[in-house]
Amino acid sequence: MHSFQTLAASFEERLSKYPPFPEEPNTLYEPCQYLLQLGGKRVRPVLCLMANELFTEISEDAWHAALGIELFHNFTLIHDDIMDKAPLRRGNPTIHARNGLTAGILCGDVTCIYAYESMANITTALPQVLHLFNRTAIEVCEGQQLDMDYETRSDVTLEEYIRMITLKTSVLLACSLKIGALVSGGLGDNANKLYAFGKNLGLAFQLQDDYLDAFGDTTKLGKQNGGDILANKKTFLLIKALENADAGQRKGIEELLVADGPGKVQEMLALFTATGADTACRDAVTAYSKLAFECLEDVAIPSKRKEPLAELAHYLLMRDR
Ligand code: IPE
Ligand code: IPE
Ligand code: MG
Ligand code: MG
Ligand code: MG
Repeated sequence: MHSFQTLAASFEERLSKYPPFPEEPNTLYEPCQYLLQLGGKRVRPVLCLMANELFTEISEDAWHAALGIELFHNFTLIHDDIMDKAPLRRGNPTIHARNGLTAGILCGDVTCIYAYESMANITTALPQVLHLFNRTAIEVCEGQQLDMDYETRSDVTLEEYIRMITLKTSVLLACSLKIGALVSGGLGDNANKLYAFGKNLGLAFQLQDDYLDAFGDTTKLGKQNGGDILANKKTFLLIKALENADAGQRKGIEELLVADGPGKVQEMLALFTATGADTACRDAVTAYSKLAFECLEDVAIPSKRKEPLAELAHYLLMRDR
């Protein structure tokens, strides 16, 4: 069994040996390669590899899947940054900020197609893998649309929020794990239990992402701080702050939602803290992590073999980047 660190390093090595993009046209592929080689945590490919290793030695199919999944994730980031008007990604300018909007659109498109090209190399359970991958891709689009729709609403419920983050984020983590199991030839119960683990882990992961967007450190995070507040994103923090607010605090939040002055982020952060939304968000991360660990326990594999997955899950929930 291999650790997160070891698998992430092996994944980087493969990427450097077999870069997925050709050279020409350089204006199309250079930005794709730029983003891909900026790193990132490589959580999804590693989840896929770890799930595979629960059942067999890591197979070539698992490496194809891992690459396909990371490419798909990169595609979602490129388009997400356009939608969210984000200037920074992985500590560097976003593709649309660096190379223009057309590059952002087309680099995203072609990265998505290269993702499918990598998946097409899989030889075990390919139809099942593709159905799951397609379903996941559709759900990510649905979640991303809801995320955007909610920017202009102020009555988004926690239930709606959880559904939205399930779609935009959780299902891809869940799918990464299940594909790792499927390509090992392991169908059925364990694959579904891994999916359930990934879904809860993904919820905790996105809650942590929202928390870090507000209270994290731009340098560590590599993303603009307060971007969600500036875009009026209906994060757990905002929904909870509205729920907990007294009349004065609610008025303050509502005024900030229509303001775009320089103090918007700091004032909203103060209200998140004053209403206890920050602590509630930490508690929600803990609660979904607990659910995730319960699902992992249900996977019928000796605990020792599941240790790397458990360690990765612990790391994700404590992370500051
Ligand atoms: C960012 O994902 C997008 C979300 C779903 C929150 P990551 O935090 O995994 O981004 P990288 O790949 O490490 O840069
Ligand atoms: C993005 O959620 C989820 C996807 C990319 C599908 P966010 O918009 O919160 O991700 P970051 O914070 O920009 O990485
Ligand atoms: Mg974003
Ligand atoms: Mg977004
Ligand atoms: Mg975010």
